[in-house]
Amino acid sequence: MSLQQIPQRVLDDLIARTDIVELIDQRLPLRSAGNNFKALCPFHQEKSPSFTVSQTKQFYYCFGCQASGNAIGFLMAYDRLSFIEAVEYLARQQGVTLPKEYIGESVHNKASPDYYELLKQVMRFYSATLKANDRAIQYLKNRGLTGEVCKRFGIGYAKAEWDALIKHFGATSVPTLLETGMLIEKNNSRYDRFRDRIMFPVRDKSGRILGFGGRIIDNGEPKYLNSPETLLFHKGSELYGLYEAMQAQRHFDYILVVEGYMDVIALAQYGISAVVATMGTALTQKQMNRLFRTSQEVILCFDGDTAGRQAAWRALEVSLPLLGDERSLKFIFLPEDEDPDTCVRKMGAEAMLKRIKEASPFSEVFIKHLLAQVDTSHVSGQARLMSLAAPLLAQLPQGVLCEMLIEQLGAYTRLDKKRLLQMVFPDQKSTPQKVVAKSGMMGLSAVDKALCLLLQHTKLADLLERVDDLATLPQPQIHLLIELVQLLQLQPGLSTGAILAHWTDPKIQSELAALAARPLLLAEEAAVTHEFVDIIEKLRKEVTSVQLGDLLVRIRQNDLSTLSPTDQARVHELLRKDEE
Ligand code: UTP
Ligand code: MN
Repeated sequence: MSLQQIPQRVLDDLIARTDIVELIDQRLPLRSAGNNFKALCPFHQEKSPSFTVSQTKQFYYCFGCQASGNAIGFLMAYDRLSFIEAVEYLARQQGVTLPKEYIGESVHNKASPDYYELLKQVMRFYSATLKANDRAIQYLKNRGLTGEVCKRFGIGYAKAEWDALIKHFGATSVPTLLETGMLIEKNNSRYDRFRDRIMFPVRDKSGRILGFGGRIIDNGEPKYLNSPETLLFHKGSELYGLYEAMQAQRHFDYILVVEGYMDVIALAQYGISAVVATMGTALTQKQMNRLFRTSQEVILCFDGDTAGRQAAWRALEVSLPLLGDERSLKFIFLPEDEDPDTCVRKMGAEAMLKRIKEASPFSEVFIKHLLAQVDTSHVSGQARLMSLAAPLLAQLPQGVLCEMLIEQLGAYTRLDKKRLLQMVFPDQKSTPQKVVAKSGMMGLSAVDKALCLLLQHTKLADLLERVDDLATLPQPQIHLLIELVQLLQLQPGLSTGAILAHWTDPKIQSELAALAARPLLLAEEAAVTHEFVDIIEKLRKEVTSVQLGDLLVRIRQNDLSTLSPTDQARVHELLRKDEE
């Protein structure tokens, strides 16, 4: 068996089962030191122990000689085993049988394109079925939908049959239909998940179908059924309607987030196309980040009832670290028993646009919510107001927004501004931004900083969408960053040791290990998030200017008319982005 022949998932599994502390301790007695374990380094001569083993990160690092690695690396260096021998040793220890034969598999193509193709065919099948079903057509007509908007959103209909998909696609498609969540498997039988429902395809940014939502016709439970979480479909990442919105307009002054599929479609029909919806789940930080990348202003539209206000507050909380002076978050609360669909049909587009224009700013909602919980006519209530606000304000990036809120809250209390600032940032020297600046990342390039943050806070990868667009950057480490993000998106929660196992080049391994070992004093999660998002944003801006530079050189050499229409459009698009 050669190196390439061991499937990555087997290596991941082995690393995950092994405890590096135990493994090393059997050979080299370790002493506990804070969160880590220490010993005299076996790889160089030293008098005080700088060889460190981290249990949580599952890797070792020597601050003296920079030796580093995961469990496999340690066995190779200490027991002088080959890579294969080390893997076999761990497999024996853990009682894992290594596969004899291995047919090429890589984490990076876990989601093979077949799934997308199949789902596209499923959508076509549902559209065709809709055309032949009067009851479904009548339902959509009764709800006021035009044929044109149904087509734009790829709306279809799933028949009231248990085996429509299997009959249409054949037995060979069963595994793919199961994996994409289109079929349900129970007691050895398989049947269609969606039956007698209006079908709404959920697409990703490039228009590929990831899953479906299905509405019951008339009444019944559940009203909406969604595809389950699959290889392709992650409700916490996707936004329904984003693709269709981006098809309809290039530039977004604002983007409106509503609760339902039908709301997105109704607004689009009335010409309000910058609208997306979640799929019945609370807005995540990842979705908020994606929204802010699309538009500087994000407007969240909720029901005015208690549940709607709670959802709004939750969304506000996850957005705090993402806000900044150039980004604005607003809210619309609708009267009870109304949703954007009914509103726009009753009042028309103009009135709806007016509501959008008059949306409540973040600061208003923020302060109102806090004031509702305290009585500021007493000093104790005023103190409570500030202690509720302080941890939230501390999550905001420092800047005008944060100062303005402190100012506004100050109006309700008799505390002076300096005292308020102190409550928000108890240790003036360690405000979030400053902690980052002072941390162990000093002197690193932007890409290395991103790597360093990712290695130590692997959850950050989940904030990003695809990052392959960064590949055009000239920085040498950029591919490493892209691969690391992709790896962590597919396998969240890998330990550092397990991450290292994905690179076989010892040079890269030790670079990554060195970054993973840098002492970051980033206590504040919000500061970490903010710093990371900022770095990626800067890299993306660089991509734009690199591409623009290339095209401009070509324009100078030839002239604009010799560029293909696509390239001409690209120049305009890049110039616009570059201005932002
Ligand atoms: P609503 O019940 O507000 O739906 O749920 P709606 O869009 O107004 O539906 P219509 O107008 O009656 O057709 C909002 C969203 O919550 C999710 C769906 O994503 C829906 O669009 N939901 C709702 C479910 O996932 N399951 C349900 O049973 C209900
Ligand atoms: Mn509705």
